Amino acid sequence: MYTSQVAPNLGVDQVDDLARDAARFNVQAGVTGVLLFDGVRFLQYIEGPEDGVSVVYARIITATSHFDLREIAQGPVVRRFCPYWAMRWLPTDQSEIDFISLGDWSGFRCGNTDGTPTGVDRLTGILLPEISSGSPSR
Ligand SMILES: Cc1cc2nc3c(=O)[nH]c(=O)nc-3n(C[C@H](O)[C@H](O)[C@H](O)COP(=O)(O)O)c2cc1C
Repeated sequence: MYTSQVAPNLGVDQVDDLARDAARFNVQAGVTGVLLFDGVRFLQYIEGPEDGVSVVYARIITATSHFDLREIAQGPVVRRFCPYWAMRWLPTDQSEIDFISLGDWSGFRCGNTDGTPTGVDRLTGILLPEISSGSPSR
C-alpha cells in the first residue's frame, strides 16, 4: 500500500491505459489490487504471492508516471481483499485518499478489538459498493 503523486507527463485520460497495462502484467504475476486516483494522487493496494508482489512493486517504483512514492504498509494478509481485480482503478477524491492512508494499517488487521475500523476496513468499505455492483475487472 502506498501513495504517490501523478507526474505531469501523465494525462488523466491515460490512467485507463496505465491500469490496463498494469492488469495485464498482474495477471501473469498472480497479483490483484486496486488503484485509487483523485486527479493528483494515487493510492494503490496490491496483494498476491511474495514473488509476484515483488516484481510488480519493482515496476511500480521505477515508473516515471508518478513520484513521491510513500509506502504506507507492507506485509502478510490473511486473505485477498480484491481477489477478482487484476488492477481496478477507481476515481476518488483527496479526502478519501487521506482517510484510507491515515488509517491504522498495522498488521493489515480487519477490525480493531475496540470495534474501531482499521485501514483495511476503510479500504474495503469503499470497495464494497463496487464489488456488489458486479463491475468487471479491468
Ligand atoms: C500509479 C501506477 C500504478 C502502477 N501499477 C502497476 C501494477 O499494478 N502492476 C504493474 O505491473 N505495473 C504497474 N505500474 C507500472 C506501469 O504498468 C507501467 O509499466 C509504467 O508506468 C510505465 O513506465 P513509465 O511510468 O515510466 O512510463 C504502475 C505505474 C503507476 C504510475
